[in-house]
Amino acid sequence: MNVVILAAGQGKRMRSDLPKVLHPIAGKPMLAHVLDTARQLGAGRICVVYGHGGEQVREALPASDLSWVKQEPQLGTGHAVLQALPQLDPAAPTLVLYGDVPLIRAETLTRLLQVSDGNTLALLTVKLPDPRGYGRIVRANGKVTRIVEEKDADAAERAITEVNTGILVAPTTALLRWLPNLGNSNAQREYYLTDIVSLAVKEGMAVEAAQPAHAWEVEGVNSKTQLAALERIHQRNIAEALMEQGVTLADPNRIDVRGELICGRDVFIDVSCVFEGKVVIGDGARILSNCVIHDATVGPQSIIGPFARLRPGAELGRDVHVGNFVEVKNSTIADHSKANHLSYIGDATIGSRVNVGAGTITCNYDGANKFRTVIEDDAFIGSDTQLVAPVTVGKGATLGAGTTLTKDAPAGKLTLSRARQTVIPGWKRPVKQKKD
Ligand code: UD1
Ligand code: MG
Repeated sequence: MNVVILAAGQGKRMRSDLPKVLHPIAGKPMLAHVLDTARQLGAGRICVVYGHGGEQVREALPASDLSWVKQEPQLGTGHAVLQALPQLDPAAPTLVLYGDVPLIRAETLTRLLQVSDGNTLALLTVKLPDPRGYGRIVRANGKVTRIVEEKDADAAERAITEVNTGILVAPTTALLRWLPNLGNSNAQREYYLTDIVSLAVKEGMAVEAAQPAHAWEVEGVNSKTQLAALERIHQRNIAEALMEQGVTLADPNRIDVRGELICGRDVFIDVSCVFEGKVVIGDGARILSNCVIHDATVGPQSIIGPFARLRPGAELGRDVHVGNFVEVKNSTIADHSKANHLSYIGDATIGSRVNVGAGTITCNYDGANKFRTVIEDDAFIGSDTQLVAPVTVGKGATLGAGTTLTKDAPAGKLTLSRARQTVIPGWKRPVKQKKD
């Protein structure tokens, strides 16, 4: 099968310098969603028709399995597919998708491909209570005879509620016959892809239609409002899938997954957490509210948050506690260790049963290079401590509160670096001087 993805539209209504198809859903460009779906179907050749902002689109999505065709000027959807024809395998049928219709499901497209069976024209259509703006599916005796665009339709045609989603499958040899002969004598002076329906009917080729399981699959994005609406639908779908796997979500409407979230059994996720990249959460772990977790692993029975941030390379073992306003980056924290309050743990290796006191900071960066901090098993780090890396805290060592550690702390000993507490004799608080 060939796949042609139309992505030449400018997307003026997005009011953005970013080409429309690069605007993200769940942190991934819309076009990348469509490409992933096409690949899921086992597409042989994928051709992206680009136009406005095209170079930016190509650079954002480098992939060896794509061919790129520039459409300039943009004279309509029929003209767009015509540009792609030289890239396609004539022996295989062609599926037309849209870079700004990101949530189309592979299951739906598989059904459309079955309907087309290689020799017929198959259209994905949908019934909408409000069909305004769409091309209408005209049928006679139940059979599709043509598609009429809203701007070319008469009142009776405009009353039709079955509309064209734009997604279709056609025999490529037929496209080679039809597309060079399309005309543009219509209200928009465009070469309409939709005109191939009447050409198929004229040839006696069957025209079939299939419907998506959900209307949101075929919704396009033309504005930030529509982008946000599809984002919410996509997030809700992800939340449903997590709950089906047994994850407890405090509120399925208040979770954002922008990547792959893999959860064990009996995971609980409280409201307003954001997951990015690949995140793995072990059995029985609890993610409390307002956490941001990016490319990290949380071990079983651990408790994260509220208000914690795990950045790439954070790897937490079993029963680890990371509390409020604690940031962990590129660090491992082994079983039963705790950093419950107000800390930065970067480029650190922390052993088991370590207590990291409130306000502890690993000073991992000297302005040019990064260094590691090692804290061995059973160490106790007093509050408000700075660990100036590279530095090691030995097994079972204790650091007094307020220590600035610049040299290794020996195992099993108390180390501290702070001025001895004194009381200044005779000291008095200053008092305000009277001005006369
Ligand atoms: C098109 C269909 C209409 C359907 C609707 C569904 C035609 C003639 N009409 O209308 O029946 O109901 O989509 O949303 O096909 N594009 C290009 N190059 C072009 C023109 C468009 O790449 O020269 C791309 C756009 O980027 C967009 C898609 O094709 O992703 C559809 O174009 P658009 O102008 O939105 O089509 P509609 O007029 O909405
Ligand atoms: Mg248009």
